[in-house]
Parts: sequence; structure tokens; C-alpha cells
Amino acid sequence: MNNFEFCVTTDILFGKGQEEMLPAKLAAYGKRILLTYGGGSIKKSGLYDKIKNLLNGFEIFELGGIDPNPRVESVNKGAKICRKENIDLILAVGGGSTIDCSKAIAAAAFYDGDAWDLITGKGKITKALPIAVVLTIATTGSEMDQAAVISNMQTNEKLLMGHPYLLPKIAVLNPENTFTVPPYQTASGSADMMSHIIETYFDTVEAFVPDAIAEGLLRAVIKYTPMALQDPEDYEARAQLMWTSSLALNGILATGKSFMWSCHYIEHELSAYYDITHGAGLAVITPKWMRYILSDSTVDKFCDYAVNVWGLERSEDKFKLANQGIDYTEKFFSKIGLPSKLSEFGIDDTKFEVMAKKAVEIGSLKKAYVPLEENDVVNILKMCL
Ligand code: NZQ
Ligand code: ZN
Repeated sequence: MNNFEFCVTTDILFGKGQEEMLPAKLAAYGKRILLTYGGGSIKKSGLYDKIKNLLNGFEIFELGGIDPNPRVESVNKGAKICRKENIDLILAVGGGSTIDCSKAIAAAAFYDGDAWDLITGKGKITKALPIAVVLTIATTGSEMDQAAVISNMQTNEKLLMGHPYLLPKIAVLNPENTFTVPPYQTASGSADMMSHIIETYFDTVEAFVPDAIAEGLLRAVIKYTPMALQDPEDYEARAQLMWTSSLALNGILATGKSFMWSCHYIEHELSAYYDITHGAGLAVITPKWMRYILSDSTVDKFCDYAVNVWGLERSEDKFKLANQGIDYTEKFFSKIGLPSKLSEFGIDDTKFEVMAKKAVEIGSLKKAYVPLEENDVVNILKMCL
């Protein structure tokens, strides 16, 4: 187990009606709020009106229409409002895209230039506005982490920025706010959570405690996703998925581990070029990556995964057991309605080389759990066709 620092200070308000705590909590940061949201789901569900009523003692400015795979243009727009209106804090009501965009806005508000500089690292994050979140979809973990992923569709880049200043101060996690998430987004969210857990679980460092938590969280996603799909208003299922989303990426699973990921960097290239749903892309890549990296040196971990996550029986034939665990993963994604091939998104092999080059470079994939060169990534992508 490696040394680590674990400091996650987000004030989590979990459960029914917890939005009502917002006025008192937000007042500590000021009166002028930038309310951010996506393409309109919060207006349809009534959450927008509820939040506006709750915050009638505050001065509210708005940035709506934030796209899935949020664009740098929205970040620049939001930063401009923050500067002009002297905003005290940002309240993001939505999913990972709205939260990530808000995090980037929070930092860009103090940067005199194109926000893209902060994402590429050309500019430095020196300060950020406080961020509060009302989460509406269980998936990315952005509500309790320091990361934001922003896209530049002009250059086909989707890049991750991370800084302790970007950690939300407050997050309202009311599972009822996820009752309206459509089946495809619910399933994609579960694939994303599973990928966060799997990418951290398969690691060069063995660490019993975080791995045991990881196995429990994976079992939670496997148990509760079909229940949420069958009855979108199953509170218990939505609640378990929502808390899993936060725990999957708040750093607890990475404690003592090396935290070098693979599939996410490959998927980010797919989103950057084809603007696909992040979790659905991961559902295609993850089982193929697993199959590709299965070897004498990884087989024992895959056996633990098969036994402790999928409940399979230990057997003498390790490779058979490991492959069964991967089969179960693949079948689970199909069962919850996710694609298993890139061709289902209309993606062919024309950009494989360029995407592989960027994924290896951006994700430092040569240092991953199983190091990947460009030709390995191309091979994995070919398996996904
Ligand atoms: O935009 P609206 O109208 O709100 O609709 C959204 C969107 O169409 C809809 N939705 C969300 N909550 C809903 C709802 N529809 C009905 N009822 C609700 N309650 O779902 C769609 C997807 O929303 P989005 O915010 O894009 O989804 P998600 O939370 O999956 O975020 C994806 C983004 O987060 C990044 C991804 O790459 C992608 O850009 N990630 C961020 C991470 C982080 N910050 O740590 C880590 C992740 O690995 C990931 O890369
Ligand atoms: Zn993800």
C-alpha cells in the first residue's frame, strides 16, 4: 500500500427534501449566485422552480443550455457572467456536464484569458469561486471530486482538469431528483460508475481495504441498476446508485494505489471526435480492454473479480474463470440496454490511429496497470468494432 493523503471536505446532504438546507448553507458564501444547468431536464421535472423558490432571498443569475460533454464556449460565457455580476458562488443543478462546466467557470472567473488555457495547463488556476451542487443523475462522481472534463469540438479535444479548489463545497444528493433520468442515461451512468471502480481496482498496487470496498460498490451497481430500470421511482435503488456514484470517484478507492487509468482516456477520444455518451462508450471499451490485458500476470486479479463481484466459484482453470468474469461484465452491459460495438454509434476505424496516439499521450497509458502503446489501443478499438 502506497502513502496517501485523503481529504474530501464536500458537505453531503443526502436524502429526500435535502434541497431545503440550501438557503442556510449557501448564505455562508454570499448572496449573488450563478445558477447553472443543462438542456432543460430540470425545468421539465420541476426542480428548477423548486430551487428558484427556495432561493428567493438571493440574487440569481443563470447559465442554462450546458451541453453533455460540456464545451469550452460555455465555460467562457459563464466566467464572463461571474466577472460582470460579481458572483459569490456557483450552484450547479444537473449531471456531470453541468458540474464540470461550473467547476471550470469557477476557476476561469479569475483568469484573464481563454478558459481553454486552464484546461491545457497553459494557464494556472490561482483561485476559484465556491461551488455547490444539486445532483440529478448518478454517474460521474463530479459532485465529490476535484476534476472537470471539458471539450473543445474545434480541435477535437476532451481534456481533464483537476485542482483542490474545484472540489464542491456542498452537494445535495436527493435520489428523487434522479427518478426522471431516462433508461439509456441511467444505464450509461451505471457503466461509468463501474468503469471508475474497475479502473481503480485493476492496479499495480494491491490494497485489500479499498479493493474490498470496490467489490461491494460493483455489486451494488449490478444489483440496483436493473431495479432502477424496471421502476424508475424505486427510491432505494436510486439511492444506492447515487451514493455509489460519489464513493466510486471521491478518492477512497484509490487510497494507497497508483491510480493510473486506461479505458477513460480511450473513451474521451471517442467523445471528442464523435460526441457520444461517456458511459455508453465505456460499456463498449471496458470488456474488450479486460480481454486484451488478461495474461499470466493479471489473471489472479481477474479471478478475484469473477468470484467477489460476480459470485462465480473458484476453479482450477484460472483463465476460464477470468474469462467468465469478463463475459458476465459484457452481458450485464447488454442486459441494461447499452451498446457492445462502436458500429452501433456509427463509428468506424478511420480515426483509430489519431485517437490512439492522443489517448496514449494524454493518459500516460505507457504507465498504466498494463502499459499500452499506440498499437495496443488500436487493437482494443478494433476489437470494439
Ligand atoms: O442537459 P439536461 O437537460 O439536464 O439532460 C441531461 C443530459 O441530456 C440528462 N439528465 C440529467 N439528469 C436528468 C436528466 N434527464 C432527466 N432527468 C434527470 N434528472 O442526462 C443527459 C446527460 O447528462 P450529463 O450531465 O451529460 O451526464 P453525466 O453526468 O454522465 O456527465 C457526463 C460528463 O462528465 C464527464 C464525462 O466525460 C462527460 O463529459 N466526466 C466527469 C468526471 C469528473 N468530473 O470527475 C469523470 C467522468 O469519468 C467523466 O469523464
Ligand atoms: Zn467516467
